[in-house]
Amino acid sequence: MTPTIAWVGDAETAAIRILDQTRLPEEEVYLELREIPPLCEAIASLRIRGAPAIGIAGAYGVALAAQRAVGSEAGDEQIRAAVARAAEQLRAARPTAVNLAWGVDRIVERFAAAWGSERGVTAARRAAAAALAGARAVHEEDLAMSRAMGAAGARLVPEGGRIITHCNTGGLATGGLGTALAVAFRAQEEGKAPRVFVDETRPLLQGARLTTWELLRAGIAATLIVDGAAAWRMATGGADLVLVGADRVAANGDAANKIGTYALAIVAARHGVPFYVVAPSSTFDLECPRGSEIVIEARPAEEVRSFRGRAAAPPEVEVWNPAFDVTPAELIAGWVTEGGVRRPPFSELAG
Ligand code: MRU
Repeated sequence: MTPTIAWVGDAETAAIRILDQTRLPEEEVYLELREIPPLCEAIASLRIRGAPAIGIAGAYGVALAAQRAVGSEAGDEQIRAAVARAAEQLRAARPTAVNLAWGVDRIVERFAAAWGSERGVTAARRAAAAALAGARAVHEEDLAMSRAMGAAGARLVPEGGRIITHCNTGGLATGGLGTALAVAFRAQEEGKAPRVFVDETRPLLQGARLTTWELLRAGIAATLIVDGAAAWRMATGGADLVLVGADRVAANGDAANKIGTYALAIVAARHGVPFYVVAPSSTFDLECPRGSEIVIEARPAEEVRSFRGRAAAPPEVEVWNPAFDVTPAELIAGWVTEGGVRRPPFSELAG
């Protein structure tokens, strides 16, 4: 399991520990975050990233805000206001992944329900403890969903299966195991010896920096390709399937994922390669009818003009940098969830 995120310390020293993904693969640096602003910064700057992982970070964030407010011996109204403010800041840190708002809202509800209508410090402490228990449950459920998705998806992988993937969907993007990459991990455990072709994933290189790091650690055959090589790989070298994750799946099956996913789906359709989205139920937004309603995060131009301080383009060039795109449902062969391979309208995920 990848040490992506953990709750550490006791009531006084509580912190959220994350592996800083901006420093990988060169360095394994862990950060202990004790306040909401640095946690929001870590989410916005992709120190922790991937839809399920930021959902867990949001859940722990609300628990952290609750613990700190209760520990400060503030009054009831101030504690409630501090938790509500933290929830709002966390939700706003990144807009596309539904998991973030989902994780935050779940703990806000748990906190309010545990507090009930009582007043005073005992009720506040009980609510903060319930918030932490709820956040731990979000984390544990994510691991269980990863295991189930891995098992369901591995049935789609033939012996020696050649998988193309985009971005990072492994333990780093989740509570420690993965979505699309969990399928590769499971196929490897089953002795199928898959080979994963990894799109480098411009501009922040989640594929090159993170996915290859995870695959090599797991002893899985990995071949790094530039994003533009996927079509040519399918045309000349072959591929058995494409597996990607998602940041939000709409009720009609349209799926938002890292920019470049849509292009990959088009070339997969052109070459008859089945294209699967692997995502837990926490990534499905059944209140969102179609992909055109999904808010796509716009990222800073600097991410494209340079990489780690080195110029990649003239500094004055105009840049358009959407972080995600939407793949229409018609290009998706199946949606692998913890309950198996599904199709819209996903009625089994409702409620
Ligand atoms: O901008 P990122 O790195 O957070 O984007 C992540 C992705 O696009 C992943 O594919 C997605 O969150 C699914 S992760 C299991």
